[in-house]
Amino acid sequence: MTHKNLFSPLTFTRGPSHKNRLFLAPLTNKQSNFDGTIADDEYNWLVGRAQSGYGLTMTCAAHVQACGQGFDGQLGCFGDQHLTGLTKLAAALKRAGSISSLQLHHAGMRSIDNVGDRVGASDDAETKTRALTIPEIHQLINDFTSAAQRAEQAGFDGVEIHGAHGYILSQFLSPTINQRTDEWGGSLDNRARIIFYILDKIRKTCRPDFQIGLRLSPERFGLRLAEIRTVAQQAMDTGQLDYLDMSLWDVFKQPEEKEFKGQTLMSYFTNLNRGECRLGVAGKIMSAQDAADCLTNGADYVLIGRAGILNKNFPQDIKADPNYTSPPTPVTEEFLHNQGLSKTFATMMRDFNGFVTD
Ligand SMILES: Cc1cc2nc3c(=O)[nH]c(=O)nc-3n(C[C@H](O)[C@H](O)[C@H](O)COP(=O)(O)O)c2cc1C
Repeated sequence: MTHKNLFSPLTFTRGPSHKNRLFLAPLTNKQSNFDGTIADDEYNWLVGRAQSGYGLTMTCAAHVQACGQGFDGQLGCFGDQHLTGLTKLAAALKRAGSISSLQLHHAGMRSIDNVGDRVGASDDAETKTRALTIPEIHQLINDFTSAAQRAEQAGFDGVEIHGAHGYILSQFLSPTINQRTDEWGGSLDNRARIIFYILDKIRKTCRPDFQIGLRLSPERFGLRLAEIRTVAQQAMDTGQLDYLDMSLWDVFKQPEEKEFKGQTLMSYFTNLNRGECRLGVAGKIMSAQDAADCLTNGADYVLIGRAGILNKNFPQDIKADPNYTSPPTPVTEEFLHNQGLSKTFATMMRDFNGFVTD
């Protein structure tokens, strides 16, 4: 695969083709209103990035229940009050020529204070989390599905189920966090069940060409690479998933678990039997060459996070120059403003070590 392949269409068995292999990664930016309705800064950020040429533009994590809010200023999709803003956003992303996806999220035990009851897979004294009851698990599945239906109604091309990064679905997956003794805990099948129920219900409820993605991460939060690999394979085998998005934080790294060292973390997913499901990878893709290398190494598409924050024209620039590489960090907040980040977003980027200079 060469650099040119990055700009060849990505086709699916369901829904529209994407014009290239670049997704804007889901990027929390805290720019929305306190009630989860979208604010201008978030709208402008996403539409601007869509205009720069991503085949697919993913929203930040959007919470499917009020109590699942993980960040101040988070975009919400838990009620019909969010529909007007989401509809305006979906229409603008379409006008920009980008496929759109709303990322569906619930922070679980990582929810912020002031959301009321903090709920998760299991009780956790440290975070004052209460285990969901079985009826509440079914409600959560329904609320992921309602949020997907809302995205569909708003005009999005699809949704991505956020099963990564230690949020509620990955809390269920985690053998250390999930201490349940009912059918939602214990064996891997039990721990993964909630993800498959959500996938199945969205697939059955939304229109046939609605594109459904799933994001998984294979490390931290007690997650085991072998188990996440099994879940990834099972998700691809359902035939219900259009794309799997592997959040690796560094696409060139080796696994943390000793027994898996000797090959890249990415390779454990590219060598699965993906059938018609497309496979994407995210993590430190900072240059045209990095992106092309991911395709050479077997990914179908790449997700661009920080390189897309640092450059408002990343897709165009890597298309024009196969030697393009991101500017060095740290950068100033002013630099980020010039790349289309509001004060809130630029300040938030200080949370990422070495990204913004003091
Ligand atoms: C500012 C910021 C916000 C993020 N927000 C989300 C999010 O809302 N949902 C998610 O799944 N991942 C989120 N991530 C992870 C990114 O999608 C991506 O996987 C990660 O940053 C690695 O890619 P990169 O090295 O290209 O940034 C975020 C990362 C950053 C830097």
